[in-house]
Amino acid sequence: MNINALSYNDGVLTLLDQTKLPHATVYRDYTDYETIARAIEEMIVRGAPAIGMTAAYGAVIGARQFTGDAHFTDYMENVIDRLWHTRPTAVNLMWALNRLKPLVRDNPAETIQRLEQAAHDIFKEDAEINRRIGEHLLEVLHDGVTLLTHCNPGALATAAYGTATAPMYLAHERGWNIKVYSDETRPRLQGALTAYELSQAGIDVTTITDSTAATLMQQGKIDAVIVGCDRIAANGDTVNKIGTMPLAICANYYNVPFYVAAPTPSFDISLADGSRIPIEERQSVEVTTLNEQALSIPDVPVYNPAFDITPHKLITGIATEHGIIKANKEAIIQLFEKKEIT
Ligand code: MRU
Repeated sequence: MNINALSYNDGVLTLLDQTKLPHATVYRDYTDYETIARAIEEMIVRGAPAIGMTAAYGAVIGARQFTGDAHFTDYMENVIDRLWHTRPTAVNLMWALNRLKPLVRDNPAETIQRLEQAAHDIFKEDAEINRRIGEHLLEVLHDGVTLLTHCNPGALATAAYGTATAPMYLAHERGWNIKVYSDETRPRLQGALTAYELSQAGIDVTTITDSTAATLMQQGKIDAVIVGCDRIAANGDTVNKIGTMPLAICANYYNVPFYVAAPTPSFDISLADGSRIPIEERQSVEVTTLNEQALSIPDVPVYNPAFDITPHKLITGIATEHGIIKANKEAIIQLFEKKEIT
């Protein structure tokens, strides 16, 4: 697995343009926080952990751009505010910026150094967190397993391994025979990214339309569903890419285990339940066109929420870097009280 969604070197952030995959591999260099903010909005980079890390490096680059024509801490507040308001749902974005905010000092040079270190730490930790999530999930899987996933919770959405894809990469490394079905994930087709990265790694992956998932479960062909997440409320309600909740309902009906892979930065325990999580609504053009080609859709209003809320009762377990926990308030409180690395 050799995919870098983002990398940073000496004031230059490089993003792999995910809107061009899988047909073209285009890397773009960024030295300006405003264009980094737009890259997040336009989904050149996407996936909860990846947008958090991109925002963190965006703040570093913003600090480096300071020209001395304002008070530095006020200037940094504006930089962070701009990055904060790029996408509303994935809490990893706010989590990363909250981690950087207290490191801002009056002195720009000192701030740049502190922010850069923090952004590097977040990046390094993300890869390690995902590897641990993968190892915990392997404990409930087996050689020969057939998995179903949705959206792209993969290496392209993280520093490495992905969250829901981590057990797939680790199983493959161990020589297990695994098969993965990847929902195409209308309307932005992030499932194509999953199919791309898993096939690059030599993992047996099959693309299906979102509506085929139920049929595969009915046919008894799916051993477990594993998805990523953008934000988990204190009671375990989970917000992830639109189409996740119907998968959980189907899995529940057909007795298929349904796991959410979740780094602890994806939890928002300040919110009691999923109904309080802001759900991003995106433009109608995402539904009415495909690769800028108009689809045969009449000129009527479009409703295009990017995420849905899976009720915690439908979730078999939440796989975190500290182990797999139940999707309920008690288990989540315990996780945040203990947070022992296992
Ligand atoms: O709109 P996107 O592509 O940013 O949405 C991404 C997802 O919903 C992923 O499943 C989620 O961020 C988990 S990524 C490890």
